[in-house]
Amino acid sequence: MTGLAYNNLAQEKIWLAGGAKIDGEVAISGAKNAVLPLMAASLLSGGECIINNVPRLDDVLVMLSVFKELGVKADFCGHTLRLDCRRVRPAAVEPKVLGRIRASNLILGPLLARFKEAEIGACGGCSIGSRPLDLHFAALEALGAKILPLEGGYFAFARELKGTRVTFPFPSVGATENLIMAAALAQGQTVLSGAAAEPEIVELAAYINAMGGKVCGAGTPTVVIEGVKSLRSASYTVMPDRIEAGTYLLAGALAGGEVLLRGARRAELAALLAALDAMGVTWRETAAGLVVCGGSRRAIDIVTAPHPGFPTDLQPLLTAALCTARGRSTVRETIFENRFTYAAELKKMGASIQIRDNCAIINGVPALCGADVAAGDLRAGAALVLAALAAEGESLIAGVEYIDRGYEDMVPKLAALGADIRRVKLRARAV
Ligand code: EPZ
Repeated sequence: MTGLAYNNLAQEKIWLAGGAKIDGEVAISGAKNAVLPLMAASLLSGGECIINNVPRLDDVLVMLSVFKELGVKADFCGHTLRLDCRRVRPAAVEPKVLGRIRASNLILGPLLARFKEAEIGACGGCSIGSRPLDLHFAALEALGAKILPLEGGYFAFARELKGTRVTFPFPSVGATENLIMAAALAQGQTVLSGAAAEPEIVELAAYINAMGGKVCGAGTPTVVIEGVKSLRSASYTVMPDRIEAGTYLLAGALAGGEVLLRGARRAELAALLAALDAMGVTWRETAAGLVVCGGSRRAIDIVTAPHPGFPTDLQPLLTAALCTARGRSTVRETIFENRFTYAAELKKMGASIQIRDNCAIINGVPALCGADVAAGDLRAGAALVLAALAAEGESLIAGVEYIDRGYEDMVPKLAALGADIRRVKLRARAV
């Protein structure tokens, strides 16, 4: 390994020698952005819930640390999660624990519904944007909740929650999830217009209905929830992670050979598959999942949008694949205000990218070169891994902790496909 800097304290990184073709099959894990709301919805029940196909991710473990403080008895064995919510209490959770994961704001709806009080951290912003909670709060206040700002968080309470009509000016995924969970035990009917329609919302509604809830219209902009008196425990299997699947589709497009994504579902990836068609990438659907083949790619123009539009979570991964496409591409980000920080890292690898008005202008280059780079968020980290896979030479990628939040076993999965990749612990030493 020459020329790569060793100027870090003991820090884990990903080392990768690019250029190897990847071939074979990769199993897609359960969906992070479905399992987190399902865990939150389990708080609505007075029993023991079982969730199968749960990915072993740091975000799941952090959510469990929040649940522990709420009195949930959890058992996470393999990919099966048992949540005993019989002794849950809406205790004040340590702000430093709540602040570690934005999705902890999803305890707001269920705790308000079941206990008429809840406390969350100021788990708003992160590197990709300010991520306020105003839509969550407005929706819960419409049901009758009062939400007070606290030192480092918020305290919510209600005498009762009554169903009503709520309209979102923007289809916020989290706000839709919080409202559905709160309305599930409210008195009467709630009609939500302008709801997010992501597949993870459909999954949440199916889980609440399996608990005895009455949620209709999930997956469309209008969701109708009939409040019930109580919800029982349920057993449920989480859908495959469409963002992980999209990540490996783009990895195969960039560095394949031919890769089978076992368990990937075409319906949830329509926007990406249409983009792959436009890029001239070969893929096909089989009974086992989706197969993608590597090869040269055409430049395209993409705009991210709420589902069923092109998902913002795949924006960094697509940009990495367009760095070596033939021609000039544009990727416009419309969901988050700061989701191109990784572009500077791709430039260290030789990419030609300009960011203007939240839009990346990418002029394809013949190849990228390995470099010492750092990720600032989860999907940026995955994008740098993909770029390094096809780059010439070695790369060292910092920010593994971000990747571990959202990708189960990314390094072993890519190594099993033939990538020359490993996690390395670097000690401080002279360059
Ligand atoms: C969910 O975040 C996902 N996270 C995100 O995935 C995903 O990028 C996002 O939805 C959009 O699809 C989980 O499901 C755990 P939003 P969420 O509320 O619910 C603004 C990943 O990489 N907004 O739909 O927080 C907000 O600032 C993560 O897996 C308000 O203005 O997303 C953002 O610009 C990243 N006020 C936009 O809406 C609010 O009250 C989308 O946010 C809420 C949101």
